[in-house]
Amino acid sequence: MTTTNVSDRMDPLDTLADTAPALIAAATTIAELDDIEAATVGRASPIAEARRGLGSMDDPDERRAAGQRINAIASALGDAIAERRSVLEAAEQAAELAADAIDVTLPGRMPARGSIHIVQQTMDEIVDIFVSLGYTVASGPEAESSFYNFTALNIPETHPTRLESDTLYLDYGEEQEDVLLRTHTSPMQARYMEEHQPPVYVVVPGKVFRSDQVDATHAPVFHQIEGLAVDRSITFGDLKGTLAQFAREFLGSDTKVKFIPHYFPFTEPSAEMHAYTHGRWIELLGCGMVNPAVFEHVGYDPDEVTGFAFGMGAERMAMVRHGITDLRALIDPDVRILEQYR
Ligand code: PHE
Repeated sequence: MTTTNVSDRMDPLDTLADTAPALIAAATTIAELDDIEAATVGRASPIAEARRGLGSMDDPDERRAAGQRINAIASALGDAIAERRSVLEAAEQAAELAADAIDVTLPGRMPARGSIHIVQQTMDEIVDIFVSLGYTVASGPEAESSFYNFTALNIPETHPTRLESDTLYLDYGEEQEDVLLRTHTSPMQARYMEEHQPPVYVVVPGKVFRSDQVDATHAPVFHQIEGLAVDRSITFGDLKGTLAQFAREFLGSDTKVKFIPHYFPFTEPSAEMHAYTHGRWIELLGCGMVNPAVFEHVGYDPDEVTGFAFGMGAERMAMVRHGITDLRALIDPDVRILEQYR
C-alpha cells in the first residue's frame, strides 16, 4: 500500500466530490444549478479534465481504476444535480401557479349595461301594436326630393312649409334646389304605393327634420311613425276603430279618444286624434282619409280604392306615455334620466 501524500489528498476530484454536493443542495434556482452543473460535470470541469488525462496513462489497470473513479464521482454528482433540479422545477412551477391564481370567490367586475333609448323603445312598441293588427313595416330615405315630400302629397308650390324657414334643404350648389331632409314620414305613403299594389297596410318609423330651435316641445331632429291603409271600401269608421284600438293598447284599455277636424293637404277629411290620459285631453296624432289627388299621383284608381293615413311623433308619444313635460329630457344624453326608462 502506498502512502497517500498531501498533494494526492488535494486531488481536484476529491475536492469536487467533497464540496460539490453542498453547492448542489444550496442552489436556489435552476439557473444557479445550471452554472454548478457546468462547473462540476461540464466540459471545463475537473471531471472532464480528469477524463482527458486518462489517455496519457500507460498502465491499463491504473487507467481502468481511474476511469471507474471518475465515473463514480460524475454519476453521483449527476444524480444529485438531477434530484435538485426536479425539486427546483416543482418549486418554480408552484410559484408560477400561485402567481396566476384566480380567486373565483371574488365578486366579478360588471360591465356597464346599456339599454334601448326610450324613444326607440316607444317606436318599437308602436310598430309592434300595428304589426299585431296585420301591418307591415317599411322605411324610406331621410334625404328626400321636394316631389315626394310635398308635391306627391298634394302640398301646393306656394305652401309655407316649403319655405326655408321651415324646411332644411340640402345644398348641392345647384340652382334648382330639390333635395331636402324630409319634414315628415308621409313621403313614404307615395313611395310605398308606387312600389306596391293595394291592399296596403304599412307603418313607417323614421327620423324627420325641421328648421326648429330646441325647446321644451321642439327639436330639429325627431321621429315619426307613419301609417297607411288602402283597400276596397275603407271608411272613416275603419280609421277611428283602428286608431282608438291603438290608443287603448298604447295608453291603457280604458283610454277615451276623440277626433277633431283638422287640415292636411294629403288627407280629406283630416282630423287630430286626442286621448284622455293623465287627467286631461292631449293631442296624439294627425290622420285622415287619403286624398284622391295622392292616389292619382301614384297611379291608384280613387274609384277602386280608399284609405286612411296617420302620422305621430315618437318623442311626443314617449312624453305622453311617461308623463314627461320637457322634450329635452329625451335629447340630453344624461343617463340618470334615461336609466329610469330601461
Ligand atoms: N305628416 C303629418 C305631420 O307631420 C301627419 C299626418 C300623416 C297627417 C298622415 C295625416 C296623415 O304633421
